[in-house]
Amino acid sequence: MKWETLADYDALSDRAASVLLDAIARDPKLVLGLPTGNTPVSMYKRLVAECALEYRCFRDVVAFNLDEYVGIPRDHPGSYFSFMQQHLFGSVDIDPKNAYIPNGRAPDLKVECERYERAIKSAGGLALTFLGLGSNGHIAFNEPGTPFESRTHVVALSESTRKANAAFFLDQPVPTHAITMGIGTILESREIVLLASGSRKRDAIARLRSGEQTVDFPASALRGHSNVLVLVDEAAA
Ligand code: GLP
Repeated sequence: MKWETLADYDALSDRAASVLLDAIARDPKLVLGLPTGNTPVSMYKRLVAECALEYRCFRDVVAFNLDEYVGIPRDHPGSYFSFMQQHLFGSVDIDPKNAYIPNGRAPDLKVECERYERAIKSAGGLALTFLGLGSNGHIAFNEPGTPFESRTHVVALSESTRKANAAFFLDQPVPTHAITMGIGTILESREIVLLASGSRKRDAIARLRSGEQTVDFPASALRGHSNVLVLVDEAAA
């Protein structure tokens, strides 16, 4: 695991955006895994700004989002579909058919999970995946206790995760379930960048650094991967 400590959230976002843009410059048909949450928002802002300069762009990029809530319409402001539209996909030249997000309203969620896994495989597998970090160590929506070999599946969200996301659901309760890429799916990405910013993440970062590998702390699965970069700001470090 490589670690980089950046001065603050802005510096972390700059660094994350340049890792992503450099990867697109090397491979314009890059297959990305992309997160939601507050942490990547400024990274996405920077990508949108760079893309407006038109010297590198998402024209041939394929992106797979890590997760989506079950049961809410795509156009609900709390959906990850809406999040990605608002923060990235709506403002860059990605081909909408190459911007994959699990369908949390699919009639058969198990079939949807299998479809998602197949789509990742047929795109050639994830090349570069960005992750946020839950304060309980979750990655995507893989809560503590999730097996490291799990594939895309439906999860019941923990109370702490539902609380952390409550601000996006003012008109209705936070959904109780989500579809998430599994830890095994994420670990197959050839390169992984984990982002953590702010003092709220300090305990989780300390635990990740401690080296212990346990299903009680999903992010510790990353210790078994050979190409992980952890970007933290000083507040999280
Ligand atoms: C949500 C998302 C995760 C994200 C996490 C951390 O639960 N499903 O993918 O990493 O929150 O969010 P934040 O970046 O807002 O701290």
